[in-house]
Amino acid sequence: MSQPNEWEPEIIAFCCNYCAYAAADLAGSKRMQYSASVRIIHAPCTGKIEMEHILEAFVKGVDGILVAGCLEGGCHFLEGNLRARKRTDRIREMLEEIGVGGARLKMVNLSAAMAPTFVESVQEMVKTVKALGPSPLKETKQLESAGKI
Ligand code: FES
Repeated sequence: MSQPNEWEPEIIAFCCNYCAYAAADLAGSKRMQYSASVRIIHAPCTGKIEMEHILEAFVKGVDGILVAGCLEGGCHFLEGNLRARKRTDRIREMLEEIGVGGARLKMVNLSAAMAPTFVESVQEMVKTVKALGPSPLKETKQLESAGKI
């Protein structure tokens, strides 16, 4: 489906409170530019981001989700990011199977100093989702809100 060039996907970046959020904050402090359509949501740890949180965001019309946590071995809750990796892999498969597109969900591991990688990951996510177009679930949500289904 082709979209007007000005279309900006709604992207959520779930950032763990430690390394990933610090990287995002550093990107802001350094005035590094990334799409304004990306909303950052603080999570204590990526291990605390449950499957329901991700699926609910998609059901509510988000076009793409980036889960950003600490580097492997660097999670402040030991294995939260490893659990999050397994969870996101599972959800990505599910999204692919139901035709939403697994590429709409991605996980990255960052240290607090990796602001450029945070920005690159976000921009890459925006590019990927722009190529995919709006989430099919968004359309369903809009029809539902308009009372058409
Ligand atoms: Fe960062 Fe667990 S505290 S991923």
